[in-house]
Amino acid sequence: MTAQIIDGKAIAEALLSTIKTRINNRIKANKRTPGLAVILVGGDPASSIYVRNKRLACEKVGIASTAYDLPASTTESELLTLIDRLNADNSIDGILIQLPLPTHINDEHIVERVSPAKDVDGFHPYNIGRLAVRQPTLRSCTPFGVIKMLQAINIDLMGLDAVVVGVSNHVGRPMALELLLAGCTVTSCHRHTKDLSKLIKGADLVIAAAGKPGLVKGEWIKPGSIVIDIGINRLADGSLAGDVEFEVAKTRAGFITPVPGGVGPMTVATLMENTLLALELQEA
Ligand code: GUN
Repeated sequence: MTAQIIDGKAIAEALLSTIKTRINNRIKANKRTPGLAVILVGGDPASSIYVRNKRLACEKVGIASTAYDLPASTTESELLTLIDRLNADNSIDGILIQLPLPTHINDEHIVERVSPAKDVDGFHPYNIGRLAVRQPTLRSCTPFGVIKMLQAINIDLMGLDAVVVGVSNHVGRPMALELLLAGCTVTSCHRHTKDLSKLIKGADLVIAAAGKPGLVKGEWIKPGSIVIDIGINRLADGSLAGDVEFEVAKTRAGFITPVPGGVGPMTVATLMENTLLALELQEA
């Protein structure tokens, strides 16, 4: 068996095109275009590439993005002051602070300072809490992007045995909550999990979000199952790899995402949709 490779780039392009149409319709109705503040602190090469992709996506769909490229020496209090200013700015609907931040800044202090109504990353504890109680509003971009990708290829999640590998606050945990909301039976795995291979061997859906290249062995994949790889790891030779042993896994899975070109573009497209939604909710 060879898996169907899920073309996240194509699915994301289709989503971006619907967002562009919605924004064009707003402009025709004399409504304003959404505004996104994109904040990058320091010059981490991977973060710089992600931020550039987000700004390019804004241009593509017609979101007004404002760039804040701050030096690595920016203090936590300076960043908090900027967030306060953007929270109060009526032309800004979404505030994105690219993570990770330099180590002298506490990520959680920053995430919590963003107004939940402008939290287009869906990282604020208020928004993750809403997802936990089945009242989602602004949903974390990567997990929600995965759900939209699976919907786009008509996968029925109801009742599937899903295993999520990784329990980070911004990816693994909200991913498990999304799958629970979608009707899956969810197992969250982490460093203390006793037998990862046994759990993955029984899974209809595996979502790898550990950030460890090759952690999920291809031979563990249940024949015909769905494998979503959220990991993006830079290898010593400069190439990118996910958390799943792709070459073996694709001979067993029914569906699998590549890295790159799988989940990554869905994260960016979902950020665009969240920014439009933040504006629409503000108007409602
Ligand atoms: N760093 C890696 N992924 C993300 C993301 O989706 N949003 C933000 N803000 N930072 C990230």
